[in-house]
Amino acid sequence: MRIGVFQFSPKWGDIGYNLAAISDTIFYYKGVELWVLPELCTTGYVFESKKDLEPLAEVFPSGKTSEAMEEVTRTSGTTVIMGVLEKLGENYFNSAAVFSKGFFMGIYRKIHLFNEEKHLFTPGFESPPVFRVKDVKIGVMICFDWIFPEVARTLALSGAMIIAHPANLVLPYCQDAMITRSIENRVFTVTANRVGTEQIGSKPPVTFTGKSQIVSPTGERLGVLSENEENVLIVDIDPSEALDKNITKLNNLFEDRNPDVYKL
Ligand code: ACM
Repeated sequence: MRIGVFQFSPKWGDIGYNLAAISDTIFYYKGVELWVLPELCTTGYVFESKKDLEPLAEVFPSGKTSEAMEEVTRTSGTTVIMGVLEKLGENYFNSAAVFSKGFFMGIYRKIHLFNEEKHLFTPGFESPPVFRVKDVKIGVMICFDWIFPEVARTLALSGAMIIAHPANLVLPYCQDAMITRSIENRVFTVTANRVGTEQIGSKPPVTFTGKSQIVSPTGERLGVLSENEENVLIVDIDPSEALDKNITKLNNLFEDRNPDVYKL
């Protein structure tokens, strides 16, 4: 399976501009079967208050992002997992939408909100989902979910072979930690981070750390981008490698678990 990550700096508040940049990239790099894009990649990340969210939030699967991505994935035959700003009822969610071959497949709402996101968004209330593309099971989590190993574990136990991880990372630890998430679950992880700095209104500037990466089930970085440049990372993987949960002849990652003794 050919996987693509588009690391870029979204134009704040301009969904049309960002969708055009995403579509152009997908059409340019033909043959990518799964694209993973950054968190909140259609809107930008920093908001002064919920009032800023209202004009940018979309109901899924209606609105311009759904319309554009259904069209792009239909004509290019690809699957896209991307961070979006979702409105559901009166609540706003930091979500990841999944589109495949012309269809909206579903949405994941970020469970673990980071820092000031807590003033803006409602935390997700459902288990992280696993989607199937051909025979490949793909799980979704968003950015700060990385620091809760339960999320990646839940996805792996649900059969995920690849974890798609849209991100807007600001702390320096995640990219290294995701190597562990891959090893401890024996799954591929695809972290799509953004670059650039956002300074909005009275808010202090936020700089994002780039270094988007794709990691193998044994913790090898199969590809990594720079910390500050917009770029595309494309890697071919064999997703079935993630089905082998044997660490030694006598140790199987899932069979050796003993949940009865964990206080979780
Ligand atoms: C983050 O969760 N965007 C750091």
